[in-house]
Amino acid sequence: MTKIRTQVGIVGAGPAGLVLARLLQLEGIDSLVLEKHSRPYCEERIRAGVLEHGTVELLTGLGVGERMHREGLVHQGIELRFAGRSHRIDFQDLTGHFITVYGQHEVVKDLIRARLATGGEIRFEVEAVSVHDFDTSRPRLCFHKDGVQHEIECDFIAGCDGFHGVCRPSLPPGALTIYERTYPFAWLGILADAPPSSEELIYSHHARGFALHSMRSPSLTRLYLQCAPDEDLEKWPDARIWEELHIRLAGGTNWKLTEGRILQKGVTDMRGFVAEPMQYGTLFLAGDAAHIVPPTGAKGMNLAVADVYVLSRALAEFYRSHSTEALQRYSHTCERRVWRAQRFSWWMTSMLHRHEGNPFDERRQLAELEYVATSRAAAQSLAENYVGFPIE
Ligand code: FAD
Ligand code: DHB
Repeated sequence: MTKIRTQVGIVGAGPAGLVLARLLQLEGIDSLVLEKHSRPYCEERIRAGVLEHGTVELLTGLGVGERMHREGLVHQGIELRFAGRSHRIDFQDLTGHFITVYGQHEVVKDLIRARLATGGEIRFEVEAVSVHDFDTSRPRLCFHKDGVQHEIECDFIAGCDGFHGVCRPSLPPGALTIYERTYPFAWLGILADAPPSSEELIYSHHARGFALHSMRSPSLTRLYLQCAPDEDLEKWPDARIWEELHIRLAGGTNWKLTEGRILQKGVTDMRGFVAEPMQYGTLFLAGDAAHIVPPTGAKGMNLAVADVYVLSRALAEFYRSHSTEALQRYSHTCERRVWRAQRFSWWMTSMLHRHEGNPFDERRQLAELEYVATSRAAAQSLAENYVGFPIE
């Protein structure tokens, strides 16, 4: 067995773990990142795409924004489609801010490259990660790599290992209060080799179900269709997906959906989940390890980044002054933002998705969309939540 010493042991090389490692490095705090997948897997996994302006500013400040500014697509608004009409929400006019469309996997690539270039460590393809003694000031992480057992002794563990990670389930029974809501639908998402059909994202309410038009670059379109949580992809040959997208996204003057080869297909379930508190002793949970939002508000990755910013400030304060005050406030500080994002994601989801079997809901949704389209106050509320609140 080998023994390793670091200040902060980080589990997970997703946005939360990698941003945290970078923030700590710039504070002169040593950390080590453990990741169960390979580097190519992490760099190619297609997930989120929308960065709030606060996330963009943070990544820029971390010195990893160069490619994001070059290749990311700045969007000043989004389109809402309903009842055969199209309505634009102008973020710039309503909030003075904008969003950037830049794939999460591109953010991950930039962060991995920056960390490795500056001598930081990420151990990929580690197995059987386990966390120990986090009720003491000397927590430990154990893992296997190439048949050898390793142990990391540290001051703190950051559980950035996503919703299905090991950190949250390692806490003693009763330590966490879980709040959860599952939604009775899912998203069938595709990545298509086709130029986007619109310069901006289109969120479409349709009697057959919600649809979303997004993008990854000037030549790649990302599209989603509301589907059943147990949807069988076998029943969705490419032609059926395009046919359904044409129907659900119809609307707008002279608008036409451009088709292309489908490069990836997948089903994402939708849930709201919060585990509180996001800390137990010297173990801190961040990002999807602590909370999940339904994707309609495009908040998940942005929340993960905001959590680790708060955590990095608190750790920096601890190493500067030995004060644990900010660390103790960590969970409470993050929860306010998390619940604000839960509320917004729930609201966007319930306004745009088809609810089986109750015509009341459809009329209520159309009234809500009509209100957002005609009231500056309602549009501004959507816009300020979508572009995101300042971090901290
Ligand atoms: P993750 O990205 O899940 O990273 C966790 C890492 O930990 C992974 O690399 C995993 O391999 C690793 N890991 C897990 N278990 C272990 C273990 N036992 N040992 C070692 N490593 C482990 N969010 C947005 O903000 N905007 C969007 O537009 C958006 N769209 C989305 C669309 C889809 C289809 C999906 C699925 C998600 C979307 N999200 C969006 C959500 C966003 O992708 C997540 O919130 C984000 O990935 C959270 O980052 P994280 O670092 O907390 O977790
Ligand atoms: C994307 C995902 C979302 O959840 C969303 O609300 C907007 C865009 C995307 O993958 O591009």
